[in-house]
Amino acid sequence: MASWLDPQSPEAQAIVRLFASYLVIAVTIFLIVSSLIAYSLIRYRARAGTQQPRQVTGSRPLEFTWTAIPLLIVASLFVLTVRTMAFVDAPQDLTANPGLLVTGHQWWWEARYPNGATAVNEIHIPTGTRLLARIDAADVIHDFWVPQLARKIDAVPGRPSFLWLDADAPGTYQGTCAEFCGMQHAGMRFQVIAEPPAVFSAWVEAQAQTPPEPTGGPSAAGARIFRDQKCGECHAVSAADRAPRNGPPLTHIAGRNRLAGDLANTPENIGRWILTPQAVKPGNRMPAQHLSNTDAAAVTAYLESLR
Ligand code: CUA
Repeated sequence: MASWLDPQSPEAQAIVRLFASYLVIAVTIFLIVSSLIAYSLIRYRARAGTQQPRQVTGSRPLEFTWTAIPLLIVASLFVLTVRTMAFVDAPQDLTANPGLLVTGHQWWWEARYPNGATAVNEIHIPTGTRLLARIDAADVIHDFWVPQLARKIDAVPGRPSFLWLDADAPGTYQGTCAEFCGMQHAGMRFQVIAEPPAVFSAWVEAQAQTPPEPTGGPSAAGARIFRDQKCGECHAVSAADRAPRNGPPLTHIAGRNRLAGDLANTPENIGRWILTPQAVKPGNRMPAQHLSNTDAAAVTAYLESLR
């Protein structure tokens, strides 16, 4: 997991600057207070024959000073924090038109783009662009966190939150769910893939198309089994199909880097997933499919054709 101390977007940089200001102020106060304590301990320690020191009660100037200094410190921390929040958080009046809808599910992330394109666990964004993301949840509370790009934000069912997603340079940024959400909470890893705007536009256009139905061979047989087994009850395989479902859309599954969050996207892993999903990712919502090895291979061939 990449560190939030290596920020790669203006928003993440603002958060690190805020942290650094707090750290500098806190360390300065600590050094002043601890050296004064150390000095007093040595300078005023009891020696043989010392008398009771002079007792002082009430001092206007002292009381004023030790009230004013903390007030000033807290006020400056407040101003720094509010300025960072205003920069990092999306203003309410913009939230009607998000550029991206992100939904947390047990246990995967869905991303939908305005043109109908969908992505699963791999969220593509254009570089150098502030993309407004609406963060939602389908079942329980999750938390969307890409440490190098943005703040953490809760994904609460029925109560959307908004977040700027932005990256300075092309690259793959690791993200994770940061709120315990059940058995596969730790398996809710995802990637944000930042690309130059032209590459991003081509990708989002391609994702909005439905791959052609296979016409022959094992993949056509696989498509038939997929229909007969009612796999479509949980998984969309068409870009036009936007009904909410329990399982991730598979429309372009063959084009993904990973499966199930953290698994290489190979035919072997797709086959293992279809036959023994609970062995691959225990607790996930998919029941094992009672298929022969030949049928599982045909479904795998079909899924491999969905690029
Ligand atoms: Cu989703 Cu933790």
